[in-house]
Amino acid sequence: MNIVILAAGQGKRMRSRLPKVLHPVAGRSMLAHVIDTAQSVANGRGGPTRTVVVVGHGAEQVRDAFSDRRDVDFVLQQPQLGTGHAVMQAVPRIDETWPTLVLYGDVPLVRAETLARLLDGAGSGMAVLTVRLADPAGYGRIVRDWHGNVLRIVEQKDASDDERGISEVNTGILVAPTAKLKAWLARLSNDNAQREYYLTDVVAQAVAEGVRVAGVVADDADEMLGVNSKAQLARIERVAQSRAAAAAMEAGATLADPARFDVRGELAVGADVFIDVNCVFEGRVSLADGVRIGPNCVLRDCSVGAGAEVAGFCHLDGATIGAEARIGPFARLRPTSRLADGVHIGNFVEVKNSQLDVASKANHLSYVGDATVGRNVNIGAGTIVANYDGANKHRTVIGDDAHTGSNSVLVAPITVGAGATVGAGSTVTREVPAGELTVARAKQVTVRGWKRPAKQK
Ligand code: UD1
Ligand code: CA
Repeated sequence: MNIVILAAGQGKRMRSRLPKVLHPVAGRSMLAHVIDTAQSVANGRGGPTRTVVVVGHGAEQVRDAFSDRRDVDFVLQQPQLGTGHAVMQAVPRIDETWPTLVLYGDVPLVRAETLARLLDGAGSGMAVLTVRLADPAGYGRIVRDWHGNVLRIVEQKDASDDERGISEVNTGILVAPTAKLKAWLARLSNDNAQREYYLTDVVAQAVAEGVRVAGVVADDADEMLGVNSKAQLARIERVAQSRAAAAAMEAGATLADPARFDVRGELAVGADVFIDVNCVFEGRVSLADGVRIGPNCVLRDCSVGAGAEVAGFCHLDGATIGAEARIGPFARLRPTSRLADGVHIGNFVEVKNSQLDVASKANHLSYVGDATVGRNVNIGAGTIVANYDGANKHRTVIGDDAHTGSNSVLVAPITVGAGATVGAGSTVTREVPAGELTVARAKQVTVRGWKRPAKQK
């Protein structure tokens, strides 16, 4: 199948330097949504697929954003003379022996099942996806005969008063037999109110040639929403988020409020997961059975093990968290941190590129950077692992059952032996031997009879 996606329009009303189709919806550009949905349908039907995106305004930026996608071709439409003209630019890149599916890059919510219905409706002919709207103003109208057969599409600006009364509108998404489509496109004229080459005019040509055009009515008008402004982008984002919430609940999550829940990527949840309000999930996040996430948390590219609890106000990025772990409130985990089962990370603790083995704890006010921490270690309140000497970062190794006292500083590179204790307030710069108490702080002295200075008269 050929997939042609129109994305050359300017999107002036977005008032943005970013080309319209690159604006994200649920964490991915609108264009990425359209490409992926169309390709999933095409791949589901087997056979080869070719994807061509027609770009114009911001063409370089759009191409760059997809530079890693070898499966997507770009063609330039310059100037933009209408939707029919746009598809014409893609003609040299498409294969005549497969049908062509046309979509818009700024209509990102269309569902694979709906596209599949469109393709089924077309058979070996043509099909247009339509929707009935209470307020059809601005859209192309679907003109049918008394039997319900589609005759043509008339744009709002070219329509008679009667035609403007039609509530069934063109979504812009259609599928057509490619060899015929090419011939129809070649015959388009711009003799209309907008002096544009309308893709919609191929419908009347098909009908004139006796090619059946199915009008497949979408049942969910939200799928057809397009984006021309920030307000429409926000509306589409909400629709995408309500789908994400529905999917999470379907998979077994309890959401404190589905309207205060945002997924900007992919979230996998097990059974009996509970997610409190105002959490944001970015990238790939997986929450195993029984995980509880408190309010106002951000999780990006994390996996959380069964039964773990993340209390409110945590920021977790690129971390692997073991089963039954306790995180937060107010904890920060940074990339490549791995916490084994039963680890506790408490309030105002930052962990970066470190591993903590089973049941180790850092409960209060600590920084643990570039450290390998054994089992059952207790990192005392205010302990700082000083990993950075101003130029280079160094690793710290802490053995099983070690305890660091409150307000201790471990200056890396350093090893704290198994079972060692570091006295509170110590700054240790050399190896801390296993099993011993090491104290590195000024000795306490008391100056007897000392008097505070008094104010001079
Ligand atoms: C088009 C349809 C209309 C339909 C409506 C649905 C035509 C003639 N009209 O109208 O029947 O109801 O969409 O939203 O097709 N584009 C290009 N190059 C161009 C012009 C447009 O790539 O030269 C792209 C735009 O970026 C956009 C899409 O095509 O993604 C639709 O363009 P737009 O100007 O919004 O079409 P409408 O006039 O609204
Ligand atoms: Ca439009």
